[in-house]
Amino acid sequence: MKILAISGSVRKDSLNTQLLRAAGEFVDEGTSIELFDLADIPFYNGDLDGDTKPASVQALLDAITAADGMLLATPEYNYSVSGVLKNAIDWASRPAFNSVLCGKPTGVMSSSMSTLGGARAQVHLRDILAATLTPVYLAPDFALASAHTAFDENGRLVDEGTRDFLQKYMMGYTHWVARQRA
Ligand code: FNR
Repeated sequence: MKILAISGSVRKDSLNTQLLRAAGEFVDEGTSIELFDLADIPFYNGDLDGDTKPASVQALLDAITAADGMLLATPEYNYSVSGVLKNAIDWASRPAFNSVLCGKPTGVMSSSMSTLGGARAQVHLRDILAATLTPVYLAPDFALASAHTAFDENGRLVDEGTRDFLQKYMMGYTHWVARQRA
């Protein structure tokens, strides 16, 4: 099974990207997690959105199409998702209600330095995905609070309780994706 992991932050030391890497530790053999970097996706512009799309956008659409499921990790910017992630979803959401997002089983996570772990952004993200007919894994939620203290210098999640919870999340999520695809 192929999972496409997309971070809503393109900065080098992104905590959300680190979270997706950590999530990759907790999948069964036979499941792969591939990270897609949104750094090259241009601002959505209807003039560029025709049969031929910018190469980076086409690569995103192809990667979503090829994946059995998506796993999104968003930062929280002013109580919502990052513009980077929203922009990518906007590109992927066309044609409306018949896009590559339609029916693609998707897990939603967040991380932030605050004690809420980006939970407010996750709520918005679920709403945005509803508009694109993207089915979202409902529970449990995974929001990584105080994320700046969560990883060691090698990007390993240090807290055993958090590791256990991420493992539970990933088992539940990947089994749900498998059921959705069956
Ligand atoms: C933030 N941050 C933030 N955090 C939060 O918990 N709630 C918020 O509303 C905001 N708002 C916000 C706005 C802007 C413009 C920035 C740049 C940052 C902090 C943010 O979540 C934190 O920097 C994360 O670490 C960013 O994610 P990455 O880049 O580490 O993945």
